[in-house]
Amino acid sequence: MEKEGFSSRAGAIAAAAGSAVGLGNIWRFPYVLGQNGGAAFLLVYVLFMLLIALPVLMSEFAIGRKAGLPVLDAFKSLAPGKKWYLIGFSGVLCAFVISSFYQVVSGWTLFYTYMSATGQLSSLSEQEVETMFQHTASDPVICVIWMLVMLGITGFVVARGVDKGIEQYSKILMPVLLVLIVVVCVRSVSLDGAAEGISFLLSPDFSKLTPSALFEALGQAFFSLSIGMGTMTTYGSYISKKQNLSSSAMSVAMIDFFIAFLAGLMIFPCAFAFGINPGQGPGLVFVTLPNIFNQMPMGQLISVAFFFLLVVAALTSSISLLEVVVTFIRSSFGFKRKKATFISAACVAFFGVACSLSSTVFDLFDKVSANILLPLGAFFIVLFIPYELGKKRVCEEFEAHGGKFKLFGVYYFLTKYIVPVAILFIFAYGIYGWING
Ligand code: TRP
Repeated sequence: MEKEGFSSRAGAIAAAAGSAVGLGNIWRFPYVLGQNGGAAFLLVYVLFMLLIALPVLMSEFAIGRKAGLPVLDAFKSLAPGKKWYLIGFSGVLCAFVISSFYQVVSGWTLFYTYMSATGQLSSLSEQEVETMFQHTASDPVICVIWMLVMLGITGFVVARGVDKGIEQYSKILMPVLLVLIVVVCVRSVSLDGAAEGISFLLSPDFSKLTPSALFEALGQAFFSLSIGMGTMTTYGSYISKKQNLSSSAMSVAMIDFFIAFLAGLMIFPCAFAFGINPGQGPGLVFVTLPNIFNQMPMGQLISVAFFFLLVVAALTSSISLLEVVVTFIRSSFGFKRKKATFISAACVAFFGVACSLSSTVFDLFDKVSANILLPLGAFFIVLFIPYELGKKRVCEEFEAHGGKFKLFGVYYFLTKYIVPVAILFIFAYGIYGWING
């Protein structure tokens, strides 16, 4: 298999940020935060991001770049004859599971782009906005068709190859999305009745923190950063040796967090202003946003642009998911990229239809992937660092660009002791919370 790289130095980071920033930030983060009590959840989320998710991201980058190979081959080549490569298999499985419901939500987003472009989202009453989403999510024809369209587009980009496809799309449009989010935020926080939403997001009430909230915060951090299944390991292999790994990881995490936070600032003031239940689940963004757009000058234009850019954000993330599967099929069966893409997309379509038709399957895939598969994957990935690579080799990788990684000691300590113990603890606590309802 020929090695593919990014044509520019910024390319690999842009692509990793493109993978990280997606529906996880704008759709999933607000809905999970809304279900878990708001500001206290946000605080825990920030802590987990810094102390757990960031070290995992750094570890994935380091493993990938050290090996110079995609996830499965990376573990095989760094630890020949050992079982670590099984992490790669679980990652492929996880990529399937995530892709399946992710494509459904991407499909809703594309459908909303279409609906706003044709004027069907403008001037709906709050009640109509809500009915509109219920109708969308429960109509199997809408869900399946729009999901398949998104999957088709994803497959098309992946089939063209990593440096021609991913890089080009993610670099130009994401900054535009950011600007638009800021504009919508400004409108949202200036709505009548927005204050309650702002305080929901910013003044913590720790009595609302349940065991399952910790569990959800951890899963959301992993999901949002695309870690725990080897995606970022594969991306790490595209990063040039001249680049500073630790600061690349920090930039990706910061961009990712910032966008999720802004999404919260966009959604909650509006939700409270319109009396929308913040804990209602996966529909939150879709029942909230149209109401803000209806309150903005040039609302329809902004609405079309917003949903379109959200589609692009979803696309860069789904590309990274499908890429995991395609890479796996190519290296295991020696298929060409196009053929491998076709086979992968066909499998995802199968599971995607299941998620489109049943909200139970949808929720199950959503929760199991983020809260169970990703933390488990991350657990083994971080163990690989101290127990297989060892301090010296890891440090060499972080300093391969010729500079010093000043916080290496902190990173290594977190990775060796804190991260694995914390994951296990939160995991056990979360399962306990689930069982005790
Ligand atoms: N991080 C992406 C988002 O926030 C979703 C995603 C893409 C992902 N690739 C992943 C999640 C790999 C976990 C693992 O939308």
